[in-house]
Amino acid sequence: MCGIVGYVGRRQAVEVVVEGLGRLEYRGYDSSGVALVGLDGRLGVEKRAGKLANLRALLAARPTMEATVGVGHTRWATHGAPTDRNAHPHTDCHGRIAVIHNGIIENFAELRAKLEADGHKLASETDTEVVAHLLEECAEEGLAEAMRRVCRTLKGAFTLLAVSLDEPDVVVGARRNSPLVVGRGEGENFLGSDVAAFIAYTREAIELGQDQVVELRASKITVTDFHGAPAPTRDYHVDWDASAAEKGGYDYFMLKEIAEQPRAVADTLLGRVGPEGLLTLDEMRLSDEELRGINKIIVVACGTSYHAGLIAKYAIEHWAGVPCEVELASEFRYRDPILTRDTLIVVITQSGETMDTLMAVRHAREQRSRVLAVCNVNGSTVPRESDAVLYTHAGPEIAVASTKAFLTQLVACYLVALYLAQVRGTKSGDEIAGIVARLTEMPSKVEEVLGTVEPVRKLARSLADERCVLFLGRHVGFPVALEGALKLKELAYMHAEGFAAGELKHGPIALIEEGLPVVVVAPSPTGQRVTHEKIVSNIQEIRARGAKTIVIAEEGDTAVEPYADTLIRVPAVPALLQPLVATVPLQVFACELAAAKGHDVDQPRNLAKSVTVE
Ligand code: F6R
Repeated sequence: MCGIVGYVGRRQAVEVVVEGLGRLEYRGYDSSGVALVGLDGRLGVEKRAGKLANLRALLAARPTMEATVGVGHTRWATHGAPTDRNAHPHTDCHGRIAVIHNGIIENFAELRAKLEADGHKLASETDTEVVAHLLEECAEEGLAEAMRRVCRTLKGAFTLLAVSLDEPDVVVGARRNSPLVVGRGEGENFLGSDVAAFIAYTREAIELGQDQVVELRASKITVTDFHGAPAPTRDYHVDWDASAAEKGGYDYFMLKEIAEQPRAVADTLLGRVGPEGLLTLDEMRLSDEELRGINKIIVVACGTSYHAGLIAKYAIEHWAGVPCEVELASEFRYRDPILTRDTLIVVITQSGETMDTLMAVRHAREQRSRVLAVCNVNGSTVPRESDAVLYTHAGPEIAVASTKAFLTQLVACYLVALYLAQVRGTKSGDEIAGIVARLTEMPSKVEEVLGTVEPVRKLARSLADERCVLFLGRHVGFPVALEGALKLKELAYMHAEGFAAGELKHGPIALIEEGLPVVVVAPSPTGQRVTHEKIVSNIQEIRARGAKTIVIAEEGDTAVEPYADTLIRVPAVPALLQPLVATVPLQVFACELAAAKGHDVDQPRNLAKSVTVE
């Protein structure tokens, strides 16, 4: 949730650290701060509540502290309100050690009580501050050894970085169940919650494993486990550059990421379709025999990724004929799901760091089920701990609201469903090749939608004063409706609900009143004839009760025309692929409406991009 940056080298540390924080602000933006190990032997700690701009202003008003070693933090508050005092870094009693942290230290109350009984003075309400004081207690062992000792006493999830005046040329980091990567430079090295922290300086990264401590110096990186034994790591090259994580002329990252969707969809298909239209999924790491033995699939995810999972179910059952359930990761392991060796768990996660999803992976593997991760971040924790991975190639997604990752998750799920159909023989080679051919047309179909969204923008602006919007859908349009509602909630802070249109008459229809905007995702009239007829009736029912109907319908669908106050056209595509085009206007709608209300589109209140706490 929080963004973490560390630097040791030859540049002005404050510049490197603040630049990194700017790229990580999407991870949390309640407050931010830096700690610099000054060349004059002082520890400079500056921090401010609110967005990074507040910290920048504070730093600009002070003389620059000459320092080539430093750490920085941007916070998403868990323990303690987002105030100046609770902002990170936190220091020990003597102001010689500074610590930043992402995660939750579950046993902090008992540690704090003991520290206070021993005479330590704690200044904040955070769980983090105990670490600075615990490091102080064993400081004579050296910072890295002290960190290892402290980590062995901590419960919960944490990424920690610490600097100390006693070792002015080192930053020490530690991780358990929370992300931390190393950036390898020349005569300088970096630490970050993700590679965006240092992408402006290096694309060479080192993936740290679970329960590891890293000692970072300008020309040496030492990694051990929590007991001091040398630990294995993996080097990798980041295949995108700093420009991919910049706005590139757009007002918001979200707009840029919406516009990048045709490319992201194309990239996710790239290299996965063989010459005869058959699929080759290199990273599958599950044998065809294993896949033939699967008798149940459970898709597990959170938020937008969960909505992708709901759509995956339709594709998996329809094409591959395997029973499929979809479950919220935060509920999954608490209801004793029945898992066997023949259950395949498909987890979907953009970040690969969502704690609920990670815990679901661990639970499933403990029960001997196999886990396939659909993930966007190379080397992140979920794919590392899974049996197989299919990477989506959306590139870095910076806006908190997920857009291009969602579309690429859909593509990856379609590929999984088709691959299962291929190995299990539930579809012929020709049938699969036919569907794959339609799939490869999708980048241009998404491009087409993007070319026609201006009226959607106008519509959104006209609804900026509404208090509530409902979304209805049937078949795969139902998860699209849920996704449209989620986008509107998180960005426009409006009451928005998605319903299966058939459920209306079982209760929600009571919500319909004069002038209420209702967005209806109409299914394909050819691919989903029966549900299409039914949704046309649903539109009439709500319109008769005064709803303002906004209908997303395929080109050529004339049946909806008489009942749509506003009609949003999308290209006709095979029914199961419709979410790839129908979701795009809803993303634009939420983005524009939020902007019209004056909200921060990329950093909506109370949210953070990567949710690394349960
Ligand atoms: C909504 C959104 C979230 C994420 C959810 C899961 O726009 O982005 O609902 O989808 O927090 O995150 P990942 O996919 O990283 O596991």
